[in-house]
Amino acid sequence: MTDAIVAHSITKRYGSLTALDDVSFALPGGCVLGLLGPNGAGKTTLLRLLAGLVRADEGEIRIINENVRGQTPKDLTALIDRPGYCPPLTAWENLFELALAYGLDPATAQTSVDEALDRMGLSWAAQRKFGAFSTGMRQRLGLAGVLLGNPSVALLDEPASGLDPAGIADVRSLVGSLRRAGTTVVVSSHLLGEMEQVCDEILVLSRGKVVAAGPVRTLLAKRSHWEVRVQSAEDADRARDALGVDYEVVPGREPLWLLATPRDHGDPRGPLPQLLSTSVVPIEVRESTSSLESLFFEVTA
Ligand SMILES: Nc1ncnc2c1ncn2[C@@H]1O[C@H](COP(=O)(O)OP(=O)(O)O)[C@@H](O)[C@H]1O
Ligand SMILES: [Mg+2]
Repeated sequence: MTDAIVAHSITKRYGSLTALDDVSFALPGGCVLGLLGPNGAGKTTLLRLLAGLVRADEGEIRIINENVRGQTPKDLTALIDRPGYCPPLTAWENLFELALAYGLDPATAQTSVDEALDRMGLSWAAQRKFGAFSTGMRQRLGLAGVLLGNPSVALLDEPASGLDPAGIADVRSLVGSLRRAGTTVVVSSHLLGEMEQVCDEILVLSRGKVVAAGPVRTLLAKRSHWEVRVQSAEDADRARDALGVDYEVVPGREPLWLLATPRDHGDPRGPLPQLLSTSVVPIEVRESTSSLESLFFEVTA
C-alpha cells in the first residue's frame, strides 16, 4: 500500500505561538486516521494545512504524490469549521450547486443529491432553506456534501459536533462507507469510543506535538494485559512458576490475581496453554483491554 498522505516535519507558527511543532506522519491509502488531542492541540491547524488552506512555516506535505503548498489538492474534500452553504438557498439547491461544481452532469447530480440527503437523514428537510437549519442539520448537510464529491481524500474536523445520537451513528457509517469506497480519511473528534471503532490509525497531538501515533490495535494491545485469578497463594506461586516473568502476583486477599502486562509479551494465546500443564485450576482468566480513552489521558496528561 502506498502512502496517500505524507507529512514531514511540519511546523506552523502564529506569531510567538507554535501551533504545530515538527509533526510527521504517513498514512496508507484507504486508511482512516483519527486526530485526537485536547482543545488547542493543533488538530484543526493540521487539517487546514493538509487541505492547503494555510501554509506550513517548515516541512512538507504530500497528498497522493502532490506537494501541498497552500493550494487544495485535487480529489480532496474537507469539512473544516462550519459548512459554507448559501443561507437563502434550500438544502437541495445548495447540494445541487456543489455537485455541479464537482463536475457531475445535471442528471447524475440530481440523483446524487437525493442519495446524499437520504444518507444523512435530511430528505425531509430538502426543500428548507439552509439559513433556517439548526446546528446539527447544518453539520449533516456538510457531511452530505462530502459524500457528493466521491473524494480520494476526505478531511473531517469534528464531524459529530452538534449531532444527536442518531447523527453520531450516521457519521460512523459515513466514515465506514468512505473507507469501503477506498477514500483515505483524516477525522478529528473528541468522541474517543467512536474513534476507537472507526479508525485504523491514530495521531494524538498535545500542544502542537505528536504524543502518540500508530495503528489503534497495536497501541491498545501494548496497554492491555491478561489477568488470572486463582484460589490460593500456593496456586498463585505455581501459576507464576509456569507462566514466567511476564506475570506478577498482585498482593491482597485470596482469591488472588496474577497480572501479565503488557499483553504483547509472552504467549499471544494468553496464559491458558501453560496453565493446562499444571494442577492449578484458575477461577477466572480474562483479557483486560485498554481503551482509547485511557490511552488519551495517559499521553496528554
Ligand atoms: N488563525 C490563528 N491565529 C492565531 N492563533 C491560532 C490561529 N488558529 C489557531 N491558532 C492557535 O493555534 C493553536 C491550535 O489551534 P487549533 O488547531 O484550532 O486546535 P484544536 O483544533 O486542536 O482545538 C491554539 O492555541 C489556537 O489558539
Ligand atoms: Mg479544532
